[in-house]
Amino acid sequence: LSISIKPLPATAKPISDMLIGIFFEDINYAADGGLYAEMIQNRDFEYAPADKSGRDANWNSTYAWKVQGDGISLKIDSVAPINAYNQHYAQLSVNKPGGVLYNTGYDGIALKKDGKYNFTFFGKADGASPRKIKVKLVSAKQGVVAEAVIKLTSTGWKKWGTTLVPAATVTDAALYIEPLSSGKLALDMVSLFPANTYKNRPNGMRTDLADAIADIHPRFVRFPGGCVAHGDGLDNIYRWKNTIGPVETRIPQRNLWGYHQSAGLGFHEYFQFCEDIGAAPVPVIAAGVPCQNSSTGGDGQQGGIPMADMQAYIQDINDLVEYANGAVTTTWGKKRAQAGHPKPFNLKYVGIGNEDLISDIFEVRFKMIFNALAKSHPEITVIGTVGPFHSGTDFVEGWDVAGKLKVPVVDEHYYESPGWFINNQSRYDSYDRTKSKVYLGEYAAHAPGGQTNLETALAEALYLTSLERNGDVVKMASYAPLLAKENHTQWNPDMIYFNNTEVKPTTGYYVQTMFGKNAGDIYMPSAVTLSDTATSVKKRIGISVVKDKQTGDVIIKMANLLPVEVNAGIDLSSFPALSATATKSVLTGNLADKFLKPGTTQIKAPKQLTQTLPAYSFTVIRIPAK
Ligand code: AHR
Repeated sequence: LSISIKPLPATAKPISDMLIGIFFEDINYAADGGLYAEMIQNRDFEYAPADKSGRDANWNSTYAWKVQGDGISLKIDSVAPINAYNQHYAQLSVNKPGGVLYNTGYDGIALKKDGKYNFTFFGKADGASPRKIKVKLVSAKQGVVAEAVIKLTSTGWKKWGTTLVPAATVTDAALYIEPLSSGKLALDMVSLFPANTYKNRPNGMRTDLADAIADIHPRFVRFPGGCVAHGDGLDNIYRWKNTIGPVETRIPQRNLWGYHQSAGLGFHEYFQFCEDIGAAPVPVIAAGVPCQNSSTGGDGQQGGIPMADMQAYIQDINDLVEYANGAVTTTWGKKRAQAGHPKPFNLKYVGIGNEDLISDIFEVRFKMIFNALAKSHPEITVIGTVGPFHSGTDFVEGWDVAGKLKVPVVDEHYYESPGWFINNQSRYDSYDRTKSKVYLGEYAAHAPGGQTNLETALAEALYLTSLERNGDVVKMASYAPLLAKENHTQWNPDMIYFNNTEVKPTTGYYVQTMFGKNAGDIYMPSAVTLSDTATSVKKRIGISVVKDKQTGDVIIKMANLLPVEVNAGIDLSSFPALSATATKSVLTGNLADKFLKPGTTQIKAPKQLTQTLPAYSFTVIRIPAK
């Protein structure tokens, strides 16, 4: 089988320069226990039974904590807490020193030999002062790997800390706190962070996971979800203001994916992370309604934020823009500066709504927010939603609402089989160019049983070539979900699996990096001729040629979903200014493989370039400008 490809620069068109981005949601322990580098689980003693799906009495303030030893007992107290937002703390009564309070982290605590770990806590000791405590990192197999003594020299609540340096690399440690004298000792916000967080940010991210994300070269990061953004009830709507400021003043909440959301990774950290990886921040705020306008509680009525509260809700969104972009003299800009970032975060996009049922309840609230933002912040591009996920080619009610209001960009979602992606590559070819532009905010090809493998990855690659072709209308796209911690997945498949020590990018992850690293902003239609013209053959080949205006590089992407190799002849004669060598990356292997990586080689790039596309493969050839 052979294919000839002749790019036609004369018909080139500009396309979005921010097509590939990421969707970040705290699902599958993506934030707490994942990207957020905190190693102590339930550090604030605020876990509650309702946090756990189906409600679990063990999920209380003592979750992940235990005492050991005769002379020590633990009580959870709420009298005179460290502040009004953080009501519960641990009260230790020590009759006889020797006992400990310990925390088992998220599936144990993994430590590296000679690494630095910052241990901090709020402590309040009764009785004789000073009071000493010993803090230890103890491996189940190797015993104590680090320890230090901290002297509490005052009796009121105060933050204390030390740096611990393990003498061994272990994956099974716990944090032990051992009071060295009798009496009462109150503890809260007990925290352990690796000192080498991503870009060394305090309260920062796990470096290995952050590196894997940055390596996609995402042009934007959408946060904090997904469903997490709009919650599953009015009281579960994500409120960004609860997630900024000193961590001990943040308000944690039930994560609708069935666990606890500490808010340690909050909006400030999201903005900082976007800046650190060179991606545009795309916060998504509920459109005044929770998931599918879900029940407000016992009455079973669907609902949204009461009209009387909508102005305050809209003000919160204006305040978000001020937090991100306002001068340090403004109320919210000042808070950003106090958090360590006087420079603005350069926010340009705000998403309003996520997969909401397009009801009157939704429409009236969305309209209020949209119109208010257009007035107060015309510089912000609002991304609307087209409603629950829908893969039909009829563009549903959500588009009508967006059309009426002239919403510039709408967010649509679909999770479908590889076959669906193969058969629907033309979805945007005849899309009405006068309608809202599209942000494909969540998508993934799912093999039976929620699997991801080379087959799904190639279906995504093929589809992405069609998104580049339609990059004048499809402005952004993000695979979902991004992260999943092994043994804590509520959703499969995901792009990157991980545990406490390993990052396991899937084959689909490499498709995203191949597109992210080889984005272009000019699309070149090509004359493509296949030796076999059967539709079933044609639709299994995806070709996209783009140019990066800044570098002048030309990039050719070729997805071959056929079970046979294809000989490709690429006519580069219309690009006189290209180098004679190129970089070729090929992703191929067994269709069922979940964890494949592309191979990269240097090739000669004559004006008549011939290449073999292996059966079931995705090939990217990047030819630099001379
Ligand atoms: O990506 C997982 C979930 O899928 C998102 O939270 C939600 O928006 C969608 O239904």
